Amino acid sequence: MRLVLLGAPGSGKGTQAARLKEYLDVPHISTGDLLRAEVAAGSPLGLQAKEVMARGDLVSDEILLGMLKDRFSRDDTRGGFILDGYPRNLAQAAALDQLLAELRQPFDYAVQLTVDNEQIIERLAGRAKAEGRADDSPESVRHRLNVYDQQTAPVIDFYRQHGQLTVVDGVGTLDAVFTRIVEAIAPEKQVG
Ligand code: AP5
Repeated sequence: MRLVLLGAPGSGKGTQAARLKEYLDVPHISTGDLLRAEVAAGSPLGLQAKEVMARGDLVSDEILLGMLKDRFSRDDTRGGFILDGYPRNLAQAAALDQLLAELRQPFDYAVQLTVDNEQIIERLAGRAKAEGRADDSPESVRHRLNVYDQQTAPVIDFYRQHGQLTVVDGVGTLDAVFTRIVEAIAPEKQVG
């Protein structure tokens, strides 16, 4: 299974990807996690990305594509993957298409988790308190949602127009959302 998980910040991509990874037995590739690991390691790339991420802006397409190519060069992606956090603009969508075509691994599903902004703000305020993620401050969350509307929403429209989009309601318990995703992508597999 080759899956691209889309949705606004806080829509539950990371949470559901962690479960889907176990269920589908494929690696979870989160560009946010890859970038946070670079920041934590204090690498040159991490130093470049740190402020941009804290503001809630997008890190450069060039850096992201390099990171992604590197990650996809590992053998564990041969049997499938869950990609979370990429693509975030139309240029990244085109780059992903090209990369997956070169690897002969086109994605099976692009799944968008939908959650209204009010609930997203509430979720991320809770995480800011619990985990203190630098980009979960109210200002950064507002900015991330604007960036999503301006830059990432066109990717959703693009996939929809090309019949490549599966929309899943991301509101409800973690189990309920998980079941909806599985029913959308692998209805022949029973959850439980
Ligand atoms: P990234 O890490 O991808 O952040 P994001 O998209 O903003 O996603 P989040 O991790 O905030 O949300 P999520 O949808 O994964 O939800 P989660 O499961 O965590 O990117 C961070 C930054 O890195 C970007 O802003 C950018 O700077 C940079 N970056 C990354 N990719 C890039 C790219 N491709 N190009 C350029 N820059 C890039 O859940 C959120 C919270 O809600 C959690 O507390 C969770 O417990 C809770 N929750 C989850 N599901 C539910 C539910 N059903 N009910 C109630 N609470 C729930």
